Amino acid sequence: MLLVENVYKTFFPGSPNEKKALQGVSLRLEDGDFATVIGSNGAGKSTLLNAVAGVFPVDRGRIVIGDTDVTRMPEHLRARFIGRVFQDPMMGTAAGMQIAENLAMAMRRGKRLGLRWSENAAEYRKFRELLVQLDLGLEERLYSKVGLLSGGQRQAVTLLMATIRRPELLLLDEHTAALDPKTAEKVLAITDRFVREGHLTTLMITHNMRDALRFGNRLIMMHNGRAIVDVRGEEKKKLQVADLLALFEKASGGEADIPDNMLLG
Ligand SMILES: Nc1ncnc2c1ncn2[C@@H]1O[C@H](COP(=O)(O)OP(=O)(O)O)[C@@H](O)[C@H]1O
Ligand SMILES: [Mg+2]
Repeated sequence: MLLVENVYKTFFPGSPNEKKALQGVSLRLEDGDFATVIGSNGAGKSTLLNAVAGVFPVDRGRIVIGDTDVTRMPEHLRARFIGRVFQDPMMGTAAGMQIAENLAMAMRRGKRLGLRWSENAAEYRKFRELLVQLDLGLEERLYSKVGLLSGGQRQAVTLLMATIRRPELLLLDEHTAALDPKTAEKVLAITDRFVREGHLTTLMITHNMRDALRFGNRLIMMHNGRAIVDVRGEEKKKLQVADLLALFEKASGGEADIPDNMLLG
């Protein structure tokens, strides 16, 4: 479960660069909810995910993950509950380490590896099985350095790392936006499978309306630092891109600016 209650965040308050990024955003995800998040550029989507992850303290409001009020908990402690994947394929993995070493590190949640970890046969088998599921041929490359992989392969490995120890919450910030369409589709399919099989409570930001409609059981639209639309279940299933545009227009009072890239696909 994730509860975000009336959260505010202003960057550079009182200065000429003041940015009111979150202005009373509230939402509640139930266990296993898979919510896609859309909204125009600057709507506050990434700031919302960063606030939940504890990248900075929020000015007001409350954030609860499961049974824990994490509002004042520092990022490194919150990381125990959270799996994250960002847009940049270079960010989630350690390029100079092997795939197997990256996965082993994720299993230990970032703690240092023992020198003899690679002789752990059970772990090796588990990694192979997980990599087979990605269907990218990576099970033959367990000892390859991650830096040698393509962007899509790296994102897939990052996704594995983010979920290898079941997180209470999975946060995805346009994690397929930097990939070519075919690879993006593969990584999305893997995401969908992991989320559903693991019953993972998930927030997935996307700029692609079609993806926002295709995936998840909920759709949240942000505008001016607030969640202005939240549709779920059967209502979401029936939605089409045209309905989404109409909703967007109505909920934002006609002022939301829909970026062209949101209409692609
Ligand atoms: N770390 C930061 N410092 C200053 N301003 C920021 C920071 N992060 C985001 N902002 C500003 O907050 C607003 C919301 O940004 P963001 O959450 O990244 O939007 P989105 O992800 O919806 O495109 C924007 O005006 C952005 O420039
Ligand atoms: Mg963003």
